[in-house]
Amino acid sequence: MTSPLRLGILGSGKGSNFQVLVEAARSKSCYYEPVMVLSDVADAGILKLAEQFKIPAHFLAPGPFKTKLTEAIEQEMVTYLQAAQVDFVALAGFMRVVKEPLLKAFPGRILNIHPSLLPQFPGLAAWKQACEAHVAETGCTVHLVDEGIDTGKILGQSRVPVFPEDTPEMVHARIQVAEHELYPRIVNEFARTISKSA
Ligand code: GRF
Repeated sequence: MTSPLRLGILGSGKGSNFQVLVEAARSKSCYYEPVMVLSDVADAGILKLAEQFKIPAHFLAPGPFKTKLTEAIEQEMVTYLQAAQVDFVALAGFMRVVKEPLLKAFPGRILNIHPSLLPQFPGLAAWKQACEAHVAETGCTVHLVDEGIDTGKILGQSRVPVFPEDTPEMVHARIQVAEHELYPRIVNEFARTISKSA
């Protein structure tokens, strides 16, 4: 096997998907290795986890907008990722839209996990949207990131049931169990594919 591809991770939250990505990479021979974490939230759990795992991590103050970064801040992220020789990027609960500096620096090489069966329920709190729509099934999707919101090419999905008595929190917890199996598997498959085509 060639040396693992270097993965950069962007996250704003507790980091449970980041955790399983690291655990999978460290427990078996994988085609990727998490090497850097960047967060737009100073006290995000993902930064604390990165410290525990001894993976370099940085907080970047997100600037004035709620749902995106300024171009300068995104460019700073690119600089960090390139300095760490990152080959590809995984968003793991990153709550801002990714725009040109990142998309241009890693074309076709940014993955995201979204808590619904896309194209159903893009955007925020997809588990709540699923409850409100009274669907019998939802799930999670790993997809490539493009300039749209949760619109990029789908790489893999897992399904979970939704029961009539479920609260949105119960649905999200069930989706997260599925995410933790799906994300490391798809990230690894993606890394294997790009290592082979290099
Ligand atoms: C996940 O549900 C993911 O689908 C969404 O944000 C959540 C992040 O959770 N994009 P965590 O920080 O990985 O625990």
